[in-house]
Amino acid sequence: MSQAQLLVTSALPYANGHIHLGHLVEYIQTDIWVRFQKLRGRRCIYICADDTHGTAIMIRARQEGIREEELLQRMHQAHTRDFAGFQIAFDHYGSTHCEENRQLCWEIWQALRAAGMIYQQEVRQLYDPEVGTFLADRFVQGTCPNCHAPNQYGDSCDRCGHHYDPIDLIDPRSTLSGARPEVRSAVHLFVDVEKQHAFLEEWTQSGDHLQPEIANYLRGHFLGQPLRPWDVSRPAPYFGFEIPDSPGNYWYVWFDAPIGYMASTWQWCKREGEDFDAWWANPETQIWHFIGKDITYFHTLFWPAMLRVSRYQLPRRIQIHGFLTVNGEKMSKSKGTFILASTYLKYLDPAYLRYYYASKLTPRVDDLDLQFDDMAEKADGDLVGKIVNLASRTARFVVSTGLASSWPDDGGLFAQAAAEGQQIAEAYEACDFNRAIRLILAAADRANQYVERQEPWKLAKDPEQAEQLQNVCTVALNLFRQIIVYLAPVLPRLAEQTGQLLHVPIRHWDDSQKPLLGTPVRPFEHMIKRVDRQAISAMIEESRQPEELSAPSAQSRVVPAAKPTAAETAGSVAQSTASPSASSDWQDEETPFQAEPLAPPCTIEDFQKIDLRVARIIQAEDVPKAKKLLRLTLSLGGQNRRTVFAGIKGVYKPEDLVGRLVILVANLAPRKMAFGTSEGMILAAGPGDGEIYLLAPDPGAKPGQRVH
Ligand code: 2FM
Ligand code: ZN
Repeated sequence: MSQAQLLVTSALPYANGHIHLGHLVEYIQTDIWVRFQKLRGRRCIYICADDTHGTAIMIRARQEGIREEELLQRMHQAHTRDFAGFQIAFDHYGSTHCEENRQLCWEIWQALRAAGMIYQQEVRQLYDPEVGTFLADRFVQGTCPNCHAPNQYGDSCDRCGHHYDPIDLIDPRSTLSGARPEVRSAVHLFVDVEKQHAFLEEWTQSGDHLQPEIANYLRGHFLGQPLRPWDVSRPAPYFGFEIPDSPGNYWYVWFDAPIGYMASTWQWCKREGEDFDAWWANPETQIWHFIGKDITYFHTLFWPAMLRVSRYQLPRRIQIHGFLTVNGEKMSKSKGTFILASTYLKYLDPAYLRYYYASKLTPRVDDLDLQFDDMAEKADGDLVGKIVNLASRTARFVVSTGLASSWPDDGGLFAQAAAEGQQIAEAYEACDFNRAIRLILAAADRANQYVERQEPWKLAKDPEQAEQLQNVCTVALNLFRQIIVYLAPVLPRLAEQTGQLLHVPIRHWDDSQKPLLGTPVRPFEHMIKRVDRQAISAMIEESRQPEELSAPSAQSRVVPAAKPTAAETAGSVAQSTASPSASSDWQDEETPFQAEPLAPPCTIEDFQKIDLRVARIIQAEDVPKAKKLLRLTLSLGGQNRRTVFAGIKGVYKPEDLVGRLVILVANLAPRKMAFGTSEGMILAAGPGDGEIYLLAPDPGAKPGQRVH
């Protein structure tokens, strides 16, 4: 009987941030699993897409003064480039912002309506009057109503773990603008998930679809009580799909995101001439979702409930992994351990990371710790020292003769490793890549002992031993190839290189079961370099950013270009240039992925990167369309001038400012705004909202002087 076809997905990355090493845990894990299945001859497709909707994208596009679609296209390109760089081989990489998705959302929505699972209710929500939008939980910060910890997000407290309604936060602030949000009412649509309680109980606890710790977590946290209704609509303005039977309301990003798995498959089907229903509506399809533990809730409760009422297949498995830590801590911009995929690729071979992650991934939901020294040691010791060396030490002796035409006595080594193929395959199948690698390394150790014993380099010196030399190298190169077949899901490039070296491409897992005989051998060419430790340091150095100047995160401010307001004035920075660089990684909506600490310590080196200068305001003008902005022309001495937009209108009169000395952050990247480009920012104290105090040096300081 033929095996069921597999449809595999990784979580759709948000289009508002670049791919970083934390994301890659999942994409590498999934890619390895998919490559393994394909190598075994399984029919399998790997589907992913950008997750494009929600407030964050809307705000960012506004801020950059471009349409959302333009931003999406740029990010799509960046994501696909980064994934390709790490050899993540999707069959299709789409976008949730597509017609196929809109249609499928509508179909599933109607099914939910038909099942009587949709109802509407007034919701009181925090609204940012400056930006003109309701605030998702992640865009509100305030003091925890339970333990009074400051700077907590709108959904739960990092310190005491308490979940609350953002309305209950003490002294809330919009992280978009710094404004004090208002409470406003709007009608929202809800999915009555409780209607699927019995089904979800059974589905999650069957032992088949989820890891045991996840099933227990769901039982302990959610299924022991009625399931809370799920708020799936957002009122305008919102970037997403408008709900056809509820004009003015949009599906919440988490409604259309998983449906994006289907939409992206549909696009693949159109491209490949396949039938969509033969995948998503076919009991012969096994759907596997790989996700991180932070989005368990959406995938294990809402998503199965949505699918159950529609005519589509439920997931066969939801495979959940933990977070990435670096040196035992959260990735940190200030420590340079928040590393973008593109930065890594500038310095290091993706094979190192793929191998390292594989060697640490287990079927459990544990976090994975990345230590660069450890990664380098594994790459050097295992990949170069134990594996590639098998070929580099033997291939050259058989370039002129090729491999022997009959199998020499190898003491049973090849047969032993061939037999172990079954265990290795089971380990891959079970997502226990750590075990697979351990088994493969044991085979590599045996192969190395064989080469050490046979000493082909000595045989090569004695013409009488030519046959023995050919035999030894035939064994060594076949043991090498066998290991590479087993490693091919992890190291596809190495598998290709091995195919070239031995003139026979690796195409199937069963290539590990039979040695090559009588085939030619090419001269050995470099396969994997030892890790350059200086490249690691340079990569970390390049990734190091002063926190406050990095992308807008919880504590930095975003100014929507269309409506610049109090954004500029909040906190101690009286200016509008919280710059979302291309490398920004916003914390989106309800799902913090690798949330950054709120107020990380800053080293003196970090601080010294900020070039603070004395500047004199030589011109100050109103920006008529802006509520809070003044355009300032600053002199840094001589002809050195800067234009800066500062959110101080209403607090300072332009004419009073001319002649004043201020402190300028002089090396801030210029920021394009609706009214012009801001070339720095001036410092101020105070909470904003009309209470702002410009910082100034004592009289005598000269424009252009550095502030220490
Ligand atoms: O957490 C995230 O990064 C989401 N963008 C994942 C979405 S997965 C799926 F549901 F689309
Ligand atoms: Zn708390």
